[in-house]
Amino acid sequence: MSVNVNQFSLNDGTTLPAVGLGTVHIKGAKGVTSVLSAIQNGYRLIDTSTNYNNEGMVGEAVRRSNVPREELIISSKLPGAAHDYDKAILMIQESLYRIGIDYFDKYLIHWPLPKQGKYVEAWQALVDAQKFGLIKTIGVSNFLEEHLTAIIEETGVTPATNQIERHPYFNNKALVKVNDQKSILTEAWSPFGREINKVLTDPVIKKIADHYGKSPAQIILRWNYENNVLSVAKSASTTNQQMNLDLFDFELTAEDRQLLDQLDKGEEGRLQGQHPNEYEEFD
Ligand SMILES: NC(=O)c1ccc[n+]([C@@H]2O[C@H](COP(=O)([O-])OP(=O)(O)OC[C@H]3O[C@@H](n4cnc5c(N)ncnc54)[C@H](OP(=O)(O)O)[C@@H]3O)[C@@H](O)[C@H]2O)c1
Repeated sequence: MSVNVNQFSLNDGTTLPAVGLGTVHIKGAKGVTSVLSAIQNGYRLIDTSTNYNNEGMVGEAVRRSNVPREELIISSKLPGAAHDYDKAILMIQESLYRIGIDYFDKYLIHWPLPKQGKYVEAWQALVDAQKFGLIKTIGVSNFLEEHLTAIIEETGVTPATNQIERHPYFNNKALVKVNDQKSILTEAWSPFGREINKVLTDPVIKKIADHYGKSPAQIILRWNYENNVLSVAKSASTTNQQMNLDLFDFELTAEDRQLLDQLDKGEEGRLQGQHPNEYEEFD
């Protein structure tokens, strides 16, 4: 199915669709069916990670889909245990073998892990992996301003994207602004706040959704789009997958965007334990 999905331009000249498919918990044979259905429903950007233990499933869906490889954007992430330069290069190569592709369209450092203090070295590995032809677009995830400044100053290379937590209860506005100022595209992870925050049943969002004849999920994704933020939305359901791409036939008023901005709860709204200076994940 061909669907019109608006695109964002990156600082390295490539383009990405405004919505990508998140794949946390999508695994195995059922996972292949879900990702295939997403590709058939028009998704082109697939977001995975070594940590999700599903890179093999993504590769299987890519092979079974009838969409040419060059039209798909496969994005994965470097785990914390591989921040040493040599380990990072090996990890990227191993991930490519697991998926069964010979280059990543996009690849990110998953978390900065500042207590470990090796993210600059990891970034240098991504910069070089791009030169070796292993990755087309390089970016980071969960990087705060100080982490972005350090990697840019040390290597002279600005990431193309920074994938960060963002949903109406934690809109991360200051960090989105930092990304914008550095010409880095913000990608929003957990745009629906996973299931924990119950963002999708918020009465303010529901009222706005009813006004436009859309669902709360569509209102959130449109709010991201109008703020120049790419959404990485996970859905294993065909109906929800289709709904999450159907965003480009309406526009929120400035007033409604403001109402959505006002739902922010600051640090209280952040998913538990996910502060980038504290969160540690090595696998
Ligand atoms: N970089 C990072 O550190 C990081 C961290 C967390 C997540 N991520 C990425 O971001 C992706 C998204 O985050 P997430 O998986 O935590 O959560 P999410 O996308 O915020 O929410 C997923 C939940 O929303 C439901 N949903 C999706 N579309 C819906 C719709 N239209 N109406 C109603 N419910 C809907 C899904 O159910 P169904 O499946 O039944 O549709 C699922 O239960 C991840 O999969 C991953 O790729 C990255």
